[in-house]
Amino acid sequence: MTEHLHAEVERLRHALNEANYRYYVLDAPALSDAEYDRLLRRLETIEAEHPEWVTPDSPTQRVGAAPAEKFERVEHRVPMLSLTDVFDDEELAAFDERVRKLLGVDEVDYVCEPKLDGLAIELVYEKGRFVRGSTRGDGLVGEDVTRNLKTMKAVPLRLRAPDVRQLREVPELLEARGEVLLFKDAFARLNAQREEAGEAAFVNPRNAAAGSLRQLDPAATARRPLTLFIYEVGESSAAFSTHWEKLEALRALGLRVNPRNRRCRGLAAVRAYVRETADRRNSEPYEIDGIVVKVDSEDSRRRLGFVSRAPRWAVAYKLPPQEEATVVESIDVNVGRTGALTPVAHLAPVFVGGVTVSNASLHNENELRRKDVRVGDTVLVRRAGDVIPEIVQVVLTKRPHGAMPYEFPDRCPVCGSAAPRPEGEAIARCVGMACPAKLREGILHFASRPALDIRGLGEALVGQLVEKGLVRELADLYDLSREDWLGLERMGEKSADNILAALQRSKQTTLPRFLDAIGIPGVGEATAKLLAQTFSDVEALEAADEAALQRIRDVGPALAGEIRAFFAEPQNRRSIHRLLEAGIRPAAVARAARGGVFAGKTLVLTGTLSRMTRDEAKAEIERRGGRVSGSVSQKTDFVVAGDEAGSKLDKARELGVAVLDEAAFLAKLGDDRG
Ligand code: IVH
Repeated sequence: MTEHLHAEVERLRHALNEANYRYYVLDAPALSDAEYDRLLRRLETIEAEHPEWVTPDSPTQRVGAAPAEKFERVEHRVPMLSLTDVFDDEELAAFDERVRKLLGVDEVDYVCEPKLDGLAIELVYEKGRFVRGSTRGDGLVGEDVTRNLKTMKAVPLRLRAPDVRQLREVPELLEARGEVLLFKDAFARLNAQREEAGEAAFVNPRNAAAGSLRQLDPAATARRPLTLFIYEVGESSAAFSTHWEKLEALRALGLRVNPRNRRCRGLAAVRAYVRETADRRNSEPYEIDGIVVKVDSEDSRRRLGFVSRAPRWAVAYKLPPQEEATVVESIDVNVGRTGALTPVAHLAPVFVGGVTVSNASLHNENELRRKDVRVGDTVLVRRAGDVIPEIVQVVLTKRPHGAMPYEFPDRCPVCGSAAPRPEGEAIARCVGMACPAKLREGILHFASRPALDIRGLGEALVGQLVEKGLVRELADLYDLSREDWLGLERMGEKSADNILAALQRSKQTTLPRFLDAIGIPGVGEATAKLLAQTFSDVEALEAADEAALQRIRDVGPALAGEIRAFFAEPQNRRSIHRLLEAGIRPAAVARAARGGVFAGKTLVLTGTLSRMTRDEAKAEIERRGGRVSGSVSQKTDFVVAGDEAGSKLDKARELGVAVLDEAAFLAKLGDDRG
C-alpha cells in the first residue's frame, strides 16, 4: 500500500515538474490551472501524511520557508564578470578586428544574444538538484537568494535528463548563470496593484525585478511574476566546445534559454542581428538594453582571456537609452477638439529613444497629481518607439527649494469657460461652445486626410481663420470668398485657388468620412464606418434612437448616449445642415457583404504588399465584410504578411493566428470579387 502511495508521489512530482517546464520554460502550457492545483493539493496531502518522504526539490517546497533576517554572502567559484560596452558600428568593428588579430583568423563565429535588463544570478545544481542560488553582487561575492529563487517556477528544482549530442547525462555540477527579469506586462500589472494599494511604483522592470528577488520573505517573492533566461555557465563538470552547444545543452537540461539568441558568422551577420534586435526592441515582451556579442568557440575564448574584470571575447553593444533625465521648464494645459484639457510639460530638450523630446503629455489631472510634477523639477523622460514621450517620475532629491505643486485650472485656459470634470471621470472638458481652441482642433480634424482631406488647410491657416473670426463653425469654411483667403497672411493667389479647389473637391465625399469629420464625441474612423453601414444618410442617423444605435456591433450604451446627445443639440443639427446645404454630398456605402470571404473576420496587415497599397488592401477587405485592426491579438483571424513583415508576424506565429502571404491573400480576394 505505502509502496503504491510512494509511487504516486513520484508520479505527481514528475507531472508537476513537466507542467512547470512546459509553462514556464517552453511557454507552451500543457495542464489547466485547475488540474495543476489538483495535482499539487494531492501531493501536499500525501506529504502531510508522510513527512519523511518530503524532499527539498519536491514541487511543494517552492514556498514555505520563513522570512530571513538577512542574506548570507556567497563567494562565486568563478567570478561573474562584466562586459565592455560598445556604442556604435565602428566600435563593434574594432572589437571584431581585435578578436580576429589575436586569433589570427579572417572571420569569427559569434553568438549574439539580447542583453536583458534585469538582475544577474547564478543557480548551482549538484547531481541535477538545485542547491543554491545567488545574486551577482560585486562579481566575486553575492547574496544567497536560494529560497527566493526556489519560488520561481522557471527555476527547475531538478534538471531534466538531456538527450543531445553534446550532453548525454545530467552533470555532477553545473553553475547556470542568467538574468532574472519581469516581463513588461507583468511590470505594468505590478505597478497598477501597488498604486491601488497606495505603494510607490517601481521606476522600471529592472528595479522591480531586483526589488522582488531581494525580499527577505520568500513568500513576497513568490507573489511577483518573475522569470529568467540562462545564458552562461560558471563552474561545471561538463565541458563544451562552443557557446552555442552550451546553450543547447542548457536548454536540454530544462533551463530557459532565450529563443532570440543566434549564431552569427562574421561581423556582417552580427550587424544584421543588431539592427533586427533594435527594430524589434519595443515589441519584445521584456526590456532590452543592448546586444551581447560573444565569441562562440570555447577554445578561442580561453586564448583571448580577460582584461581586468571583463572578457576580451565578448562586448555589449548598447542601444540608445529610452529614459533620460531633463528639467521641466513650464507646464500648461492644451485644449483638444472635444474640449479635453490635457496638461503638458515643456522640457529642456533631451535626446531619448532616438529623438529629441521637448514636450511630454501628463494625460490628465489625476496623473499630474500622482506624479506631482512641478516647474523646475528634474524628471526621467521615457520614449519607447512610436510611443508619445512620458514622464516616468520626478527625481525628488533634485527638486528646487520652493517649487510649488501645479494648480490645475478649473476654467478653460483658452476661452475662460468652465471646464468641469464629471464625477468619476479623469478628464476635465471646456464647455464653451465657441471655444477657439476646440474650434481650431475641430477644423483641423475636419480637414484631415481620413476625414474630408482638404489639402493645404494646416495649422497656420486655421489659426488665422479662427483668430480673425472668419470661421465660427465648420460650415463657414465653404462661405469664404477668394478675397477672404487672400486677406490671410502668407497667402498668395495660387495657394488661395488651391484651397478653394480643395474645398470644392471635399464636397464629394463618403458618409463614413463625413461622420468622422464632424466630430461626434466617441466616433472615430472605425465607428463612423460601422454607422455608415447601418444608416444610409445623416438624417437617418440623426433620427435613430439609442436602441437602434446599440444594435450596431461595438456600440454600447455609453457611446449610443453620446451620439444621441450630439444630435439632440440644436446647434449641432443646424451646423450639419448648413454643411449639407453648402453642397457636401456624403455618398452612402455599400453594405458589408454578409457572405463575403472575410465577413465578421478581423485581419491585420503587416509588411509591404507588391500589388496594392495598404489602403487598397483595407478597402478590399472591408468590401468583403472584414475589418482591419492595427495589432495582433487572440481575436485576430488572419495576418496578411507582405515583404519585410516584422513583429506582427512574429506575434501571429506566437499566438497561432493564421497567416496569409500576398499570394494567398490575393487568391482569397479573387475567389470573392466583393
Ligand atoms: S554574459 C562575461 N549575456 O550584462 C559574460 N550577460 O555587463 C558576462 N546581461 O552582469 C555575462 N544579458 O547582468 C551575458 N545575454 C547576456 C546578458 C548579460 C544581460 C547582463 C548581466 C551582466 C551584465 C554584464
